[in-house]
Amino acid sequence: MIDENFSLVLIKWYNLNKRNLPWRNTIDPYKIWISEIILQQTRVEQGLPYYNKFILNFPNIIKLSQAKEDKVLKLWQGLGYYSRARNLHFTSKYITEKLNGEFPKNYDGLIKLKGVGKYTASAISSFAYNEKKAVLDGNVFRVLSRYFGVFDPIDSTLGLKLFEEISFKNLPIKNIATYNQSIMEFGALQCKPASPNCELCPLNFNCWAFLNNKISSLPVKNKKIIKKERFFNFIVLANEKFVFIEKRIKNDIWKNLYQFPLFEDSDLNFKPAKDLVKNGVLLKKTKIKHILTHQRLNVVFWHYNVNKLEKNKKYKTIEIKKIDQYPVPKIVENYIAENLRIDLI
Ligand code: ADE
Repeated sequence: MIDENFSLVLIKWYNLNKRNLPWRNTIDPYKIWISEIILQQTRVEQGLPYYNKFILNFPNIIKLSQAKEDKVLKLWQGLGYYSRARNLHFTSKYITEKLNGEFPKNYDGLIKLKGVGKYTASAISSFAYNEKKAVLDGNVFRVLSRYFGVFDPIDSTLGLKLFEEISFKNLPIKNIATYNQSIMEFGALQCKPASPNCELCPLNFNCWAFLNNKISSLPVKNKKIIKKERFFNFIVLANEKFVFIEKRIKNDIWKNLYQFPLFEDSDLNFKPAKDLVKNGVLLKKTKIKHILTHQRLNVVFWHYNVNKLEKNKKYKTIEIKKIDQYPVPKIVENYIAENLRIDLI
């Protein structure tokens, strides 16, 4: 499955259709690294403002390595998959402290970094150093599976091997960086997951799936994600000035983010412990469903007004007006915006 024309058509298409994105105007491996980590599970439109904010705050690896983790997570707030931000921060310190501040100069060095897998190492090494590596992300799987008619599941070991082989063999002789950008951009804008406009596609004359009417069956994925059901009760204990929060420290979603005191309990008759809310008046109970990739969260916010917040060993008492300084999950951010503004209490 080698097609000499394939890469040339894609590069030509790219030069006419590409979006002007800031990480495409640089060969700074630091900036490329940040952009590729942000874009891993995130669409360009959503990731772009985060990228700009991130680079403004941390223009280079030294600045990132000197930052407090709270600040890094705060700038990530709302993007999800927060391990990406924690790993970026960890790796920035590793590079500054252990590698003399020098970014690894090739794929083999890059892949050793925490949070950098095959995709990211290929992207950075090809974009920054023009190394001959093929990127394989969701967009690329889609383009290759359709064009070459590959039905092997993209999430199987054998399938992955086959796609790695096809993508490598179809790399152009030169312009690796541009080609890798081209095939990803083509997947994002032209060869879209649902109802792509194949009539107007420059590859349609030779695309297996188009010619065989199989566009909607490709790519093939084996595994169905089974979502775990969880029941979160957040106890919002606040007076006009203060509120309790806690930091999530376990290896779980939202690690190192902050939240209201949480009780995870699938008992539908859950009631907050009396000694925690003993001086409080229940103002409001808000139920929200929050769907993540691997989990379905059934969230209840129990909002209590208390005259005085007594010191508590387990929770941190903070001024409500300072709550925006803490990184919190999106669902907590929304709750604060709607219910905990000073003027609403
Ligand atoms: N998705 C992942 N990497 C990308 C890039 N460099 N440009 C656009 N979309 C991307």
